[in-house]
Amino acid sequence: MTHLKWWQTAAFYQIYPRSFADGNGDGIGDFPGMIDRLDYLQSLGIDAVWLSPHFPSPNADCGYDVSDYTGVAPEYGTPDDFRRFLDGAHRRGIRVILDLVLNHTSEEHPWFIESRSSRDNPKRDWYVWRDPAPDGGPPNNWYSAFGGSAWELDPATGQYYYHFFFKEQPDLNWHNPAVKQAMWQAVRFWLDMGVDGFRLDAIGTIFEDPAYPPQTAQLSQLDMLRAWRENRSPEEQQALMAEFTRMFQCQVGQPGIHELMRDLRAVLDEYPGDRVLIGEDDDPAYYGNGDDELHLVFNFPLMRTDRITPAWVRANQAERLSKLPPGAWPCNTLGNHDSARLISAFGDGRHNDGWARVLAALVLTLRGTPVLYNGEEIGMTDLILERFDQLRDNQAVNLYRLAVSDGIPPEQAMAMAARMTRDRCRTPLQWANAPNAGFSPAGVAPWLPVNPNYAAGVNVADQEDDPASLLNFYRRLLRVRRATPALLGGEYVPLHPNAEDYLAFLRRDSRQTCLVVLNMSPRVQIINLADAPIAADVAECLFDGADLRAAGRRDDVSQLALPSFGVYIGRLQKQEK
Ligand code: GLC
Repeated sequence: MTHLKWWQTAAFYQIYPRSFADGNGDGIGDFPGMIDRLDYLQSLGIDAVWLSPHFPSPNADCGYDVSDYTGVAPEYGTPDDFRRFLDGAHRRGIRVILDLVLNHTSEEHPWFIESRSSRDNPKRDWYVWRDPAPDGGPPNNWYSAFGGSAWELDPATGQYYYHFFFKEQPDLNWHNPAVKQAMWQAVRFWLDMGVDGFRLDAIGTIFEDPAYPPQTAQLSQLDMLRAWRENRSPEEQQALMAEFTRMFQCQVGQPGIHELMRDLRAVLDEYPGDRVLIGEDDDPAYYGNGDDELHLVFNFPLMRTDRITPAWVRANQAERLSKLPPGAWPCNTLGNHDSARLISAFGDGRHNDGWARVLAALVLTLRGTPVLYNGEEIGMTDLILERFDQLRDNQAVNLYRLAVSDGIPPEQAMAMAARMTRDRCRTPLQWANAPNAGFSPAGVAPWLPVNPNYAAGVNVADQEDDPASLLNFYRRLLRVRRATPALLGGEYVPLHPNAEDYLAFLRRDSRQTCLVVLNMSPRVQIINLADAPIAADVAECLFDGADLRAAGRRDDVSQLALPSFGVYIGRLQKQEK
């Protein structure tokens, strides 16, 4: 067996710091809270944490507008708290990677404050400044992906600066070598401290077409914003997304980026311990030659659908695995802080618990590194906010304002904003059936409302002691995954290409072959796998979602019975005659 790196076998768990655990009772998650929950993370069985931004930030974009790349946001704690968190995680065998936002800083970052101070400031060229168009308007008609023009006039100096995201997030000019030098210094700061790598934010947006040609897409700003997350027919959504992509084609995926990623990789490779880079993008080109750019690139196409079916997964795997360059390692996920929660995205309303289980099993058994999103393990769902003043995600605030100024009645605009806002999936972690779900003390108003379903069993404490809970399902699965080499490193071999209700595949390495069957339907399935491309007639059961005592059971693979949304993992064996 080839030796696997830690980031190939690790199960990652994304922590959204603001919503994870409020240690000091101010309604905002923080490092003391996270430190208190390290034992929980260890007992869950994850191997690595991806921490969404924990840096000082005015929070125009919930921390993705960084004002100090080597600091710790005071509301999350002190630099010492961060170190205690990192050390505590490491002591428990949990690695920690940080979120690195390269495309832009906060407008309050000292670099930008200097840059905007005068046209001849030495940092002027650290950002993207352009003269107004002849009519005094913006340099071109590019949009910001979060609404409005991508250009903001700085009245004091009479030029516009470019921002792909909010106007509070000016884009850095990565053509200027001083920018790279300053950013790599911050990267080294954290690597020196011992962090295990970075998730790279929005790398596709780092460079722009240097000719700044006008964009010609036919999409209103409102529709552009709605394209992010609206319930539409798949055809409509596809057409909208195609136009959306066309709208931004000069602003994303531009030349220069691969060279930059190679450069960053070289910095990481100077350090011992296999530090890792995970790109927030789905383009396999970011793997470079398999060893010179990013270690992992998300398989986002897997989650870009409103229904995950066996056929969808088979098609996704066939395409994705065939596109990866030799040596590249897949990375699967079904949710994060920008998308609907797993159950809200893919549940059918009637069998949500079944979907939660079968999809957990999917992401933990496919070939590649799985990335889970905090709260998924207890079945947290999206919260639909009711009032404008509850919105914290400025993307939704922009959408609401645009809709109202377009003549849409406020209630309808609010309904649109509530559907698209990323606040939906960012509500506080539900620790107990207690006031504020145990996230903050009673009487404190958390920064986002708590989802009231904590009182209906969607919380850690209630699930902790129930062996049949979703939480313990995740724990069992993570344990089996860790203990089963073929699940960690084995090749993926799809079976039964026409099965509509279930997904069956092998994970196979030189020592063992595991059979995985996921019933993605409420109907019982009797499955004959005796024709799998391996001579086997029995499977030693490693995991049976429905039977906690099934491990070690010998099952006849010519008639495996899977209950509604059943999950089966077995090790294939030839019967001793
Ligand atoms: C990434 C982050 C998102 C953020 C954006 C701008 O997509 O995941 O939350 O708003 O980048 O930094």
